[in-house]
Amino acid sequence: MAKDSEKKTCGQVMSEWKEFFWNPRTHELLGRTASSWGLILLFYLIFYIFLAGMFVLTMYVMLLTLDDYKPTYQDRLATPGMMIRPKGNALEISYNSEDTESWDLYVQALDNFLAPYNESQQIMNNKDCTPDTYFIQEDAGEIRNNPKRSCQFNRTMLGNCSGINDRYYGYPDGQPCVLIKLNRVIGMLPGKDDQSPYVTCGAKKEDSSLIHELTLFPKGGMFNLMYFPYYGKKAQVNYSQPLVAVKFLNVTYNADINVECKINSLAVASPTSERDKFAGRVSFKLRINKN
Ligand SMILES: *[C@@H]1O[C@H](CO)[C@@H](O)[C@H](O)[C@H]1NC(C)=O
Ligand SMILES: *[C@@H]1O[C@H](CO)[C@@H](O)[C@H](O)[C@H]1NC(C)=O
Ligand SMILES: *[C@@H]1O[C@H](CO)[C@@H](O)[C@H](O)[C@H]1NC(C)=O
Ligand SMILES: *[C@@H]1O[C@H](CO)[C@@H](O)[C@H](O)[C@H]1NC(C)=O
Ligand SMILES: *[C@@H]1O[C@H](CO)[C@@H](O)[C@H](O)[C@H]1NC(C)=O
Repeated sequence: MAKDSEKKTCGQVMSEWKEFFWNPRTHELLGRTASSWGLILLFYLIFYIFLAGMFVLTMYVMLLTLDDYKPTYQDRLATPGMMIRPKGNALEISYNSEDTESWDLYVQALDNFLAPYNESQQIMNNKDCTPDTYFIQEDAGEIRNNPKRSCQFNRTMLGNCSGINDRYYGYPDGQPCVLIKLNRVIGMLPGKDDQSPYVTCGAKKEDSSLIHELTLFPKGGMFNLMYFPYYGKKAQVNYSQPLVAVKFLNVTYNADINVECKINSLAVASPTSERDKFAGRVSFKLRINKN
């Protein structure tokens, strides 16, 4: 038999292929009748419509479970990060107290950052809350309690660092102010035993002889409990982050000073893991030159 097929001429092969492609006797195209092809196409059509339907349905159900107002998943550190203002390059505040240009940018940055904390702005946007207690505004089940109000943080609370009595924040006097803020974490309740968390600042060990005196505003360097919990940008549209200002009153001139500020008495234990190394604290370099 193998020999027979080998003997097939080129023309025979061609006509066999032609017949396979279209067989006029049986009306078969590529070996199938029209109705057979129709059934196959119908099957695939229904199959793909079904798949698309499944996809749309799962997407829809998933989107239903998402909440516009808060993230479903939050990679939440046990202790939030902190940041300073003015930030400068690489968290460095370095200037010459006798050279206006060297500190003017810091003053401008503070002016801009504090503008929304003007009393008039705060009174217009925010509520005069009861201090030392969380400002809880939960939703009643499915009924949204939005938008939520936020508490006033007047810049006057920053005392000598408010830029009101002293418009240069102490920079030309060698007594600069640095603002500290806690990163926003939705739902965080940072108090411990109903006590507000507070900030402490100091020079790092080897530089400890370089800072003689500093002071914090508001009193005790507290982040008052009334600014927590934070419900997110969309729910709490006018939220003003609470601030703590540190004013260096007497530091050694012409020396690099490594300063570290950290938050105390957070509800969660102080950070231990490598990942949390920078949580709950911020370090920066301070250098005040004087000729
Ligand atoms: C905030 O108040 C200061 C003076 O107290 C004023 O110079 C500044 O323009 C005010 N900023 C805003 C945004 O109202
Ligand atoms: C936000 O501030 C605007 C005025 O700037 C005020 O009309 C609005 O009621 C405030 N919203 C909330 C939720 O406090
Ligand atoms: C902000 O200032 C206004 C007006 O002086 C005052 O009524 C309000 O109690 C202050 N808010 C806070 C939180 O101190
Ligand atoms: C603010 O500065 C003034 C003038 O330098 C000073 O008399 C006062 O004691 C300072 N206030 C605080 C709370 O440090
Ligand atoms: C700053 O601190 C040093 C060391 O304690 C002290 O000798 C000096 O008198 C202080 N300067 C001022 C202006 O208080």
